[in-house]
Amino acid sequence: MPIKTTVITGATSGIGKETALALAQKDHAVYMLVRNVEKGKQVRNEIIAASNNRYIHVIYCDLADLKTVKAATEILKEKLFAINVLINNAGGIFATRELSEDGYEMTFAANHLGHFLLTMSLMPLLEKGQARIINVSSEAHRIGKLYFDDLQAEKEYSSFKRYGMAKLFNIYFAKSLAERYQNKGITAFALHPGMVSTAFWAQSSGWAKVLEFISRPFMITAQQGAQTSVYLATAPKLDKESGQYFKKQHVAKPSSLANNKSARDQLWDISTQLTKAYL
Ligand SMILES: NC(=O)c1ccc[n+]([C@@H]2O[C@H](COP(=O)([O-])OP(=O)(O)OC[C@H]3O[C@@H](n4cnc5c(N)ncnc54)[C@H](OP(=O)(O)O)[C@@H]3O)[C@@H](O)[C@H]2O)c1
Repeated sequence: MPIKTTVITGATSGIGKETALALAQKDHAVYMLVRNVEKGKQVRNEIIAASNNRYIHVIYCDLADLKTVKAATEILKEKLFAINVLINNAGGIFATRELSEDGYEMTFAANHLGHFLLTMSLMPLLEKGQARIINVSSEAHRIGKLYFDDLQAEKEYSSFKRYGMAKLFNIYFAKSLAERYQNKGITAFALHPGMVSTAFWAQSSGWAKVLEFISRPFMITAQQGAQTSVYLATAPKLDKESGQYFKKQHVAKPSSLANNKSARDQLWDISTQLTKAYL
């Protein structure tokens, strides 16, 4: 029988796939929330074959379509009593401005808002599991500026800057969860996985392409990129580190903007407002 129950997004590819495999090998039951169910089933079969763990499940969930996020959480609530680990891993960068199914700027929607709804809807199960919530952020948060007055990028769009803001939001969200739910036994973390050779870079353009070109010779594998997520999901005692940003399995210092509490609270309020139809 599995020892822990993990829910993970973005497990069809790259860092998420390797994280799901490593946790399956450590006897976790793994619920993969995926936007492409066929691809998800293929990956599930690969993980079962490589881990000999049958408790791997696929549930449809497009983070850029909030009604499907809500539907996925309803399925999880029917199936599970508790969740021990939630890994908000899925993400992407978008060369041109796109809108989600709900009409929100895609970088913000897919990297942050879908995960906000997912996490808040699963909170009863997360509390029962005394869960660790792990947000896969990036060092790109350092170029993140706050566009609260143009969140949907109607006035200005730069793919790298929007990505930087979304990854800053992953850190804000982890810190806020750690603060607001510490009395409920929840811990939350953000992390940078490293510069990892994955499908992510195929979507990049502009400055991100330049960064890819410079970094390509030094990029690590997806398996190596999964290590900090796996560490945060499995290390024995991390209560004191809750709310922190991690790199290479150690606490790291994020940008000074990442410590801006009023921006963090503003993000929480906006995210609650934008998802309130489903909360
Ligand atoms: N690669 C790096 O160097 C690097 C560095 C720092 C941070 N990160 C972060 O690491 C995380 C994983 O990225 P990766 O490098 O492993 O990239 P990847 O191989 O492109 O994987 C991204 C995953 O996210 C899923 N996804 C994207 N949009 C989605 C949506 N709307 N709904 C549901 N799932 C969605 C993808 O599903 P499909 O398979 O259907 O496309 C895929 O499983 C991301 O949050 C990224 O920002 C990566």
